[in-house]
Amino acid sequence: MQIRDIATAPMRGQNAGTSGLRRKTRDYMAPLFLENYVQAILDGTGGAAGKTYVLGGDGRYFNAAAIQIILRILAGNGADRVIVGQGGLLSTPAASHLIRKTGADGGFILSASHNPGGIDADFGLKYNMANGGPATETMTAAIVAASEAITRIRMADSADIDLDALGAVAIGAMQVRIIDPVADYLALMEDLFDLDAIAALIAGGFTLRFDAMHAVTGPYARALLVDRCGASPDSLMNATPLPDFGGGHPDPNPVWAADLMGLMMGPDAPDFGAASDGDGDRNMIVGRGCYVTPSDSLALIADRAELAKGYRRGLAGVARSMPTSGAVDRVAAAKGIACFETPTGWKFFGNLLDTGQITLCGEESAGTGSDHIREKDGLWAVLMWLNIVAVTGQSVADLMAAHWRTYGRNYYSRHDYEDVDSAVAAVLMADLRGRLDSLPGQSFAGLRVTAADDFAYADPVDGSVSTSQGLRLHFAGGARAVLRLSGTGTSGATLRVYLEQLVAAPGDLHQDAGDVLAPLAAAVDAVAGISGRTGRTAPDVKT
Ligand code: G1P
Ligand code: ZN
Repeated sequence: MQIRDIATAPMRGQNAGTSGLRRKTRDYMAPLFLENYVQAILDGTGGAAGKTYVLGGDGRYFNAAAIQIILRILAGNGADRVIVGQGGLLSTPAASHLIRKTGADGGFILSASHNPGGIDADFGLKYNMANGGPATETMTAAIVAASEAITRIRMADSADIDLDALGAVAIGAMQVRIIDPVADYLALMEDLFDLDAIAALIAGGFTLRFDAMHAVTGPYARALLVDRCGASPDSLMNATPLPDFGGGHPDPNPVWAADLMGLMMGPDAPDFGAASDGDGDRNMIVGRGCYVTPSDSLALIADRAELAKGYRRGLAGVARSMPTSGAVDRVAAAKGIACFETPTGWKFFGNLLDTGQITLCGEESAGTGSDHIREKDGLWAVLMWLNIVAVTGQSVADLMAAHWRTYGRNYYSRHDYEDVDSAVAAVLMADLRGRLDSLPGQSFAGLRVTAADDFAYADPVDGSVSTSQGLRLHFAGGARAVLRLSGTGTSGATLRVYLEQLVAAPGDLHQDAGDVLAPLAAAVDAVAGISGRTGRTAPDVKT
C-alpha cells in the first residue's frame, strides 16, 4: 500500500461553527473539500500517528463514501486503529460512548444533525475529543489554524473496505474493526435505567410511539423499546434510516414531527410519544395531549432523576444553555445544588461534566443529557421519562402539572427567522447591541425593560472567555427575551428569538403559550425592529 501526499491549499468555508462543520452536501463532495478538512483536524490535534479513532455517521447521503475517504486519510497519517459502526452507522451518543469506552483518542461523526439530507441538502463532520465530547473552543481554534496553513493531504492508496461485514480488516498497518453500532449503547442504557420496570409498564398496557424520522435511531429504538422492553413493532414510526430521511427534516419538534404531534393530540393518542433527530442526540417528549418543552423536560428530569438507578445517589449540579428557560434553576435552588448557565452548544458542558460539577445538562433545542457521555442523548431522555413514568405511575401530563404547581411554569417559545440576508441580520444585532445600555427603564409595546446585556461566559475550568453569546433583555413581570444568530445554518442568517414568561399563580398554569408570550413578542419586535428590517411579519418556525 502506498501513501501519497496530495498538494492542497487552504479552502474557504471550512471554519467550524457551533457543532462541527455543516455545509451543502455538494460542497463536501467537491474535490478535496472533505479531505482537506479531515487533514486539518489531524494536523490541528497533533497528528494521527499511533492513535485510535471512532468513525461513523447518521447514514445520510455521502455517509459511506466519506467514511472510505476518512479511512484512507487516517491510514495515510499513520493511525493505529479505527472502530467503525456497521454500515457506517453510529448515532452521536453511541459514538461518544464508544470513544470513552475504548479509550480512543477521538472520533469523527458524520452528520448535519437535524438538517435535511441528500445530494441537494446538507452534510457535516464533527470531531470529538478523547472525553467523547465535541472539540472545545481551544481545540477548534487549533483546527482552524491548521486549515489555514495546510499544504498537503496524506492518503493511503487503498481500496474501499466492506462496511457491512462485522470483524477486523487491515488497511496497511492500520487495523479497522467493524462493530455492531447498537450493542454497547444498549448495555450503557441497561446500567442507567430500570428497563425491567419499563418492560412491566408496557406489558401492563402502556402504549407509546417513537418517531425515528428515518434517521439513525431506528435500529437503536428497535433494540431498546421493542426487543428489550416489549413494545409492539408498530410503536416505531419511520424506523428505517434513509439517505434523505424520506425527504423530511429529521428535527424532533412539533413542526417537523407533525404526524406524531397530530396523533398525540388526537383521540387515539397513545400514552407516550417521542422522537429523535438525524444523529440521535435530540429528543422530543410528548404525553397524551401534552407537549413537553425541552426546558421543562430538563427541569422535570432534574427533579426526578433519582428515581432512575443510575442517578440514585443524587445530582452534583445541573447546567443549561443561556437561552434555555430558567425552569431548571428553581429545581436546583430547591435541591441546593449548583446551576450553571453556559453559551449555546454542547461543548460548553464538557468541562463541567469532566470535573464532576454537574450531572445533568440541557438546551432548549431539544437536547438533554447527563455525565454518562459527553453529548446530548435522545433515547436516554426517552428512557429517563419512561423510567419516571414507570416508577411514579403518573402520566406525562400529570407529572408536568405537579411540577408546575411546585415550581411555577416558564412559558416558553423560540421564534426562528430563517435565511435572512446576512448583512441585515448583522446590522440588526449590532444596532441592538449598541443600544443595550440605554434600554433599562424604557418601555416597548407596553413592557418595561429592567436589564439588558450581551452574554459572555468564562469557563470555570479552563478560564476561556466566550463573548457575544446572545443579547438578553429582561422585562418587568418575569419576562425574558434572548436574541442570537444561529451558528449552524447553511444559507443566509437565522435569527433566533427566545421568549420566556414565568407564571406562578396556580390558576394560570394551563394557558396557551402563544397567548401568554404574545405581548413579549410584540415588545421584542418593537425594541429590535425585526419585522421592519427583515420584511418578515412572522417567524418561519415557532417551537
Ligand atoms: C443549534 C441549537 C443549539 C445546539 C446546536 C447543535 O445551534 O440552537 O442549542 O447546540 O444547534 O445541535 P444554533 O443553530 O442555534 O447555533
Ligand atoms: Zn443532532
